[in-house]
Amino acid sequence: MTVPDSRPVRPVAEPVENPSLSLRALNAIAHVYAKAVSENPVVQKVSPARPQRFAGYEFPVRVEAVVDEADGVKSLTLARTDGKRMPGWLPGAHIDVTLPSGRRRQYSLAGKPPVEDRYRIAVRRIDDGLVSPEIHALSEGAELTVRGPRNAFPMAAEEHYLFVAAGIGITPILGMIQAAAAARADWTLYYHGRTRDSMPFLAELEALAAGTDNTVIVASDDLDGVPHIDSVLRLAREDSALYVCGPIGLSLALRDRIPAVAPGVKFHTELFSPAPVVDGKPFAIRLSTTDEVVQVGATETALDAVRRARPDQAFSCRQGFCGACIVGMRSGAPVHRDRALRPDEQGTAFALCVSRADADSELVLDI
Ligand code: FES
Repeated sequence: MTVPDSRPVRPVAEPVENPSLSLRALNAIAHVYAKAVSENPVVQKVSPARPQRFAGYEFPVRVEAVVDEADGVKSLTLARTDGKRMPGWLPGAHIDVTLPSGRRRQYSLAGKPPVEDRYRIAVRRIDDGLVSPEIHALSEGAELTVRGPRNAFPMAAEEHYLFVAAGIGITPILGMIQAAAAARADWTLYYHGRTRDSMPFLAELEALAAGTDNTVIVASDDLDGVPHIDSVLRLAREDSALYVCGPIGLSLALRDRIPAVAPGVKFHTELFSPAPVVDGKPFAIRLSTTDEVVQVGATETALDAVRRARPDQAFSCRQGFCGACIVGMRSGAPVHRDRALRPDEQGTAFALCVSRADADSELVLDI
């Protein structure tokens, strides 16, 4: 979902140059343990690694308010029910929401809601979808579980922002605009939707721009046609940071025209759908529980291939950051493309949604 230049950097531990006696002792114990247990093929056979990632907090919430924000879009204000405060978050953050059916989806936090210590998400109804109709059927008092927040779309401090949002992509951008306004940074928003009536938060955005030199430009398919990429980029200044949230085609079109139209602009994006597989080569996955072999084609993900054999294989973001699809790995030559695994986990675990393997090789996974 996020292109590499907006990738958050994981802090790396500094090497210890003069380890103390106790550190050396711990190191020796860890070495013996690794030889006796972690690297012991018998132990691995009996008790294979099954990494499970639980990032952030999980806590119960109640739907405190449901608001019709636009045609087909509702916002939900969520209040914690265990008496604790909501974890803090920064613009661009999202949460996992588990619904009464057990289905789980990720939603960007839709700016700061009017009520303190609450989260707000906004959901567009997809009529033939599995989850958005369930969310739209929720009423005040419904109980949900939230995990997070996490941030795969962090916002840096800049002098000027050009925000581009399409449709429900306004949700993370709204929080960024609130933050830019609070920091008295300059900003311009280009906001595109199908129709004006389908675009949530227009009044809040106009209120944020009121009385300032900042601008909200609203355009829609029915009145203005599709976005004109070069015209949108010409809204940038030389020192602008461009933050985009919307369909992958819009994000990539903007990114590709930056060198010609707005060189120097810093590009950050969050996509709604997985990016297509790039430079994929075919490889095979052996499922260790049955010895079944699944072929992964050059243009499909390992997750898609595994789900042909294991339709219940867990996943969530499909973009390599949430950790939901991580499975244990026994052998093979993986090409890790995720941002969920730490370097010390990469030898024994694999993120199915984005990672791959050397061409024509075989990975053995704990599935
Ligand atoms: S589904 Fe989120 S990391 Fe793979």
